[in-house]
Amino acid sequence: MARHLITSAIPYINGIKHLGNLVGSQLPADLYARYLRSRGHEVLFLCATDEHGTPAELAAAKAGKAVAEYCAEMHDVQARIADGFGLSFDHFGRSSSPQNHRLTQAMAGRLAEMGLIREVTEDQVYSVTDGRFLPDRYIEGTCPNCGFESARGDQCDNCTKQLDPTDLINPRSTISGATDLEVRTTKHLYLRQSELKGALADWIDSKKDWPILTTSIAKKWLNDGDGLQDRGITRDLDWGIPVRKGDQDWPGMEGKVFYVWFDAPIEYIACAQEWQDAGKGADWKRWWRTDKGADDVRYTQFMGKDNVPFHTLSFPATIMGTQEPWKLVDYIKSFNYLNYDGGQFSTSRGRGVFMDQALEILPSDYWRWWLLSHAPETSDAEFTWDAFQQDVNKDLADVLGNFVSRITKFCRSKFGETIPAGGTQGAAEEALIAALTQRLTAYQGHMDGIEVRKAAAELRAIWVLGNEYLQANAPWTTIKTDPDTAAMQVRLGLNLIRLYAVLSAPFIPDASKVLLDAMQTDDAAWPDDIGAALTALPTGHAFTVPDNLFRKITDDERAGWAERFAGVRT
Ligand code: MF3
Ligand code: ZN
Repeated sequence: MARHLITSAIPYINGIKHLGNLVGSQLPADLYARYLRSRGHEVLFLCATDEHGTPAELAAAKAGKAVAEYCAEMHDVQARIADGFGLSFDHFGRSSSPQNHRLTQAMAGRLAEMGLIREVTEDQVYSVTDGRFLPDRYIEGTCPNCGFESARGDQCDNCTKQLDPTDLINPRSTISGATDLEVRTTKHLYLRQSELKGALADWIDSKKDWPILTTSIAKKWLNDGDGLQDRGITRDLDWGIPVRKGDQDWPGMEGKVFYVWFDAPIEYIACAQEWQDAGKGADWKRWWRTDKGADDVRYTQFMGKDNVPFHTLSFPATIMGTQEPWKLVDYIKSFNYLNYDGGQFSTSRGRGVFMDQALEILPSDYWRWWLLSHAPETSDAEFTWDAFQQDVNKDLADVLGNFVSRITKFCRSKFGETIPAGGTQGAAEEALIAALTQRLTAYQGHMDGIEVRKAAAELRAIWVLGNEYLQANAPWTTIKTDPDTAAMQVRLGLNLIRLYAVLSAPFIPDASKVLLDAMQTDDAAWPDDIGAALTALPTGHAFTVPDNLFRKITDDERAGWAERFAGVRT
């Protein structure tokens, strides 16, 4: 038994995530956490909302709410939806927690002590009316390049030219519309991560088993990008973690907060404290401090590819820079993008299916199965309604659902609702057990290696073996001449249902529970011997026929959904 710490990239607070976000971090992280728990390992699976930064401020303003209130509400919304998808976090924390405030301030203080922080004086746009410095995206004006009147301070959305706020003609504040803007000097803290370049390069080089997607992005930024230039870690904003040196004031930094990308990953650690403080566990340092037992922990992070630079360079730089015994990540599983029906999912334009909408349409297992079995691992993937309908109908309804329904209904009509006695296994059963054993080994290998698509394909093949066995051995024919052998076949089939429930639980936990309930057992032990696992339900054990496990998606539904989600979410 090993100890596994698992984190998923923490979703921004400003709005509900789409299915592309879900399959890029939280969902595969949940798959892995569930699998490892099933295998008997000790797991701490953490996620949180990422609550700071300008997007949170903007979204709150748009909703007409105070930021703190908006974040509290949206945290609950996201927590409820995560629950609806069966995401089995041990704790779903908040980057705005007091624990993260303290830890972020302590880490910054420690980095300063280690000589890794320098102060930089910069020119920045100040709004006299608003009484504050304006971040680039809080400034709009006319694009000097194309004349577009709503160009943002960092970029023109019309001609895509990268801009500086001072390039804009007739600049104004997007908060108040004020035009009395001036350039003032302000001081910021920079993390001297360039000092750590050698250490980071060695560390990444030592990760021979990491996915190529992860290491290629890390190396690109390390070698030819500006990824390792010193990085500003403070902002002139009201909402965020106040800049302090541990529990001391930081002279000259009054009224400033840490940059969201500085405090967000620190929340991975603070979240474990929150977990403990919420009474869900003890001894959080056992997971995070190598001087307190975390040496034995294997730490795996899940994220979309856009998050890789922050997790391979910036956050490790923060951790290494402290020279304190914090746990570094052992394995980073990253994902490409899932596209939506010929284009991109887009939060800002409301394109695609969002998590709340998905759950309104179908139970979460349908989504979990489709998304995971099409996880964008080796390249970008695409969601289409055609593919979704076809795959769900085939894999879940025709293969798994049909197997369960045929065997349970047949048993009920011929033997009643208990596991029938009689008969002995022969060559066909031996062959089935051998095939299942081989596939189980492959399935475990893919799950251990977090090869999500390959694992899904192997699980599907395990379901198919059951159908093929039924088809070839046809107990409904056998029973006419040899009722004892038919009873043996049915007994095996019913035991296969229990086995399927156990093996499928990481992918489709709700269906798995329905199956275990129908088989009236809570024996969900992971099999180490297939032959033995297929005798777990003994002769005479009662069961019930489950209701239709998975229904089929109709053509009308498919067409209706395709139309409903083609446009813009309002
Ligand atoms: N909020 C970011 C996103 O959704 C992810 C932050 S991950 C962490 O892309 F490292 F900051 F925690
Ligand atoms: Zn322009």
